[in-house]
Amino acid sequence: MNIKRQEETLMGWSIMWWLFKLFGLPITIPWLIYHFLDIMQQKRKRAALSSKVIMITGASSGLGEALAHTFYRWGCRLILVSRRKEELERVKNDLMNTYQTIPTHPPIVLPLDLTDINNMKDEVSKAIMVHGRIDILINNAGITYRGEVINTSVDVDLKVMMSNYFSQVALSKIVLPFMIEQKSGHIVGISSVQGRIAIPFRSAYAASKHALQAWYDTTRAELFDKNIKITVISPGYIKTSLSLNALTENGQVYGLMDKTTENGYQPEFVAECILKSVLKQEKEVTIAPFSPKVAIVLRTLFPSLFFWIMQKRAKNK
Ligand SMILES: NC(=O)c1ccc[n+]([C@@H]2O[C@H](COP(=O)([O-])OP(=O)(O)OC[C@H]3O[C@@H](n4cnc5c(N)ncnc54)[C@H](OP(=O)(O)O)[C@@H]3O)[C@@H](O)[C@H]2O)c1
Repeated sequence: MNIKRQEETLMGWSIMWWLFKLFGLPITIPWLIYHFLDIMQQKRKRAALSSKVIMITGASSGLGEALAHTFYRWGCRLILVSRRKEELERVKNDLMNTYQTIPTHPPIVLPLDLTDINNMKDEVSKAIMVHGRIDILINNAGITYRGEVINTSVDVDLKVMMSNYFSQVALSKIVLPFMIEQKSGHIVGISSVQGRIAIPFRSAYAASKHALQAWYDTTRAELFDKNIKITVISPGYIKTSLSLNALTENGQVYGLMDKTTENGYQPEFVAECILKSVLKQEKEVTIAPFSPKVAIVLRTLFPSLFFWIMQKRAKNK
């Protein structure tokens, strides 16, 4: 009885081995080779980041701060931009104290209000001229908003549009001539899942992020021949101060940490995904859980169903 069971087990194993040889090996070996080559290529590309000049906006907190750490670790020369100089200095000191064993360059701190679109050209140009070039611009700074369309003052719509859309357009237009002159450059626009789908009570924010997507699509096409790369990143919720700093219908600061934001991705994780997308020169990337990705597909393929779901969602304020 025992011998029979052993024979059956042996037979089972030999069938499995035969199936593995027939189907498993032809799939596994190329897969392993592909991943090995991919890892080697990623390593080479990461090493090539050393000394690249990268301007990061909104570097004083949240995702921008995480991006500063992610790129600084690879030896990049950073230009850190936001309004709060003392917070930028804190990030700079933190970077220099954290990576003491790696050859790095002291970051440049550039305090700027990016909504002051007509008065930032000189300061931005001066910061770029410190290193004589700019390789990557990460347009990350932004604000969000909470409110109903009907009760929202147009001033709030303008402010959100200025902070999220016109500031990125204006800064890109200052930086692009440098990139064109040096015959290479990469602009990374931080959009949002809400740049792909619009949800209730976020009209100004969703509109500003949708506008960004369109502007970058046009820019990517026009500047392809000039060797300018464009990557648009659309993240889902990230655990940052974004909702705390959100504007309300009348322009007050919202001041609450939303549950969705609290439970969002860690900014370090999103920053690492962005680094990978930059290395792969991807055109657009959505960093989001399953359901927002499904919603994007629904909006494209079954818009009526998507609108119906949003209608229901708007009722459950
Ligand atoms: N958190 C999320 O759930 C989420 C999801 C998708 C996309 N995003 C996008 O990610 C980006 C970064 O946001 P975050 O989540 O990291 O929020 P955050 O922690 O509030 O950071 C926003 C950054 O933008 C800067 N900023 C805002 N207005 C500015 C202005 N007029 N001029 C210069 N800098 C300005 C702020 O710095 P100062 O106050 O020092 O100026 C701050 O460094 C935003 O574009 C946001 O839309 C966030």
